[in-house]
Amino acid sequence: MKRIPVIAGNWKMNTGIDDAVKLVKTMLPDLEKFSSVEKVVCPPFVSLDAVKKALKESSVKLGAQNLFYEDKGAYTGEVAPPMLAGLCEYVIIGHSERRQYFGETDEIVDKKLKAAIKNGLKPIFCIGEKLEENESGKTELVLLRQLLVCSDHANFSNGIIIAYEPVWAIGTGRAATAAQAEKTIAYIRRVVTEQQGGDIGGAVRILYGGSVTAANIAELMKQLDIDGALVGGASLKVDDFVSIARQASEIKK
Ligand code: PGA
Repeated sequence: MKRIPVIAGNWKMNTGIDDAVKLVKTMLPDLEKFSSVEKVVCPPFVSLDAVKKALKESSVKLGAQNLFYEDKGAYTGEVAPPMLAGLCEYVIIGHSERRQYFGETDEIVDKKLKAAIKNGLKPIFCIGEKLEENESGKTELVLLRQLLVCSDHANFSNGIIIAYEPVWAIGTGRAATAAQAEKTIAYIRRVVTEQQGGDIGGAVRILYGGSVTAANIAELMKQLDIDGALVGGASLKVDDFVSIARQASEIKK
């Protein structure tokens, strides 16, 4: 089954409005050349509107890094799904930094997925195990728990992208090997297949994330089940992000 690869940049809490626009405008001419890969940038909330304008008539898509699950109300500082609908197409949900630093549980992640889907946003749904879970052989168990918590409503045929991001690989410079990432992503695909059938399991796009660079993307993209990458640090460097998108596009052509 043909799955269009995705290279998504998670800018995290970096760039003000001017820098965000400058960054995306510098990348844009090169990114436009790689038509066989879907490109997504996820700047901070405050820059979404300005980056959207910079992306006008471009093939590069826009994503937010988070949302709250209520539609409106007395939730100081939060951003509601209807506020993002129409502004961006994607939204990162369940990133391990949100789980770790902001206390997001599986239940909260589940509510956020539901709210995103209800509002027509496509989640980039992050799952991944911590170092100690990996070392004690619990990786599959943790991923299964994270996947199953949302399986009753998150029909993976409706545009959800899964991002496998081992927590120990994020921002550490210690990426999973291509073989490790492939093995785990193939497992995730099997779980989705068992839950939702072969058509959906074969079609859902599953990305790898965690210390992806221009030097390791090629090996990752050569794997059968890896459909792209969620890139943090390297997505802020024009040459690196362009090179990652170029390699992904060439390999999966
Ligand atoms: P990293 O971050 O590429 O800087 O490791 C990835 C992510 O957190 O999505």
